[in-house]
Amino acid sequence: MVTTRTPLIAGNWKMNLDHLQSIAFVQKLAWSLKDAKHDYSTVEAVVFPPFTDLRSVQTLLDADKLHLGLGAQDLSAHDSGAHTGEISGAFLSKLDIRYVIVGHSERRTMHGETDAVVAAKVLAAHRNGLVPVLCVGETAADLEEHGPSAVPVAQLRAAVADLPADAEIVVAYEPVWAIGSGKAATAEQAEQVCAALREALADVLGSDSAAATRILYGGSVKSSNIASFMREPNVDGALVGGASLDVDEFASIVRFPSHVGV
Ligand code: 13P
Repeated sequence: MVTTRTPLIAGNWKMNLDHLQSIAFVQKLAWSLKDAKHDYSTVEAVVFPPFTDLRSVQTLLDADKLHLGLGAQDLSAHDSGAHTGEISGAFLSKLDIRYVIVGHSERRTMHGETDAVVAAKVLAAHRNGLVPVLCVGETAADLEEHGPSAVPVAQLRAAVADLPADAEIVVAYEPVWAIGSGKAATAEQAEQVCAALREALADVLGSDSAAATRILYGGSVKSSNIASFMREPNVDGALVGGASLDVDEFASIVRFPSHVGV
């Protein structure tokens, strides 16, 4: 089958940059990509700022007709009600937000998000017209005990079990041991797990959905290693943490086809 998946480079800012800093950052990033004549139809670029930045960034993207995409870092499993401190997917979709990260390992470990909570959030995203960017990945101990694919595949199966087959989803394979460590997985390791994730998607959601779904790699991605990942057939982009906070570095990652000849 001919692959029609548009590569996606996603910048997860985590808890960095306030709303004023976010405006300056997005302006610089958009200029940098414009200067380089970046074609967003060949590589989609999306930023995931903190909640308090979203309205400011959305207003800027809208006013200046910028082609950067906008995503949120989390959402509530509920759409409204007595859930102090939570953010509804309905509110995010009102801000023209297209993507929302669900099940990041930092939320699984620091905020006790179980597979059931993650599955409920995936459904909440879909219900509100958002595309979940579902994060899965194993710890170093999991890797030693279960091998490379078992834990991420089990997390994926649990998260999409109740999702309709035609729902759009992005999957991000982020080995916990590679996040923020400077020690990225090898391209071969990423490909092996991404291929296993695509097989699991085919099994649960069907082969059309599996063929159409973008699967990203995340964990210490930089401009110097993005090329190796993007050469792999089952890796469709990257979820970038630390390197997404540097305009030049992130722009260079987005522009990977121009500097690696992919
Ligand atoms: P780093 O790119 O800083 O390793 O973070 C990866 C990540 O967690 C993105 O969601």
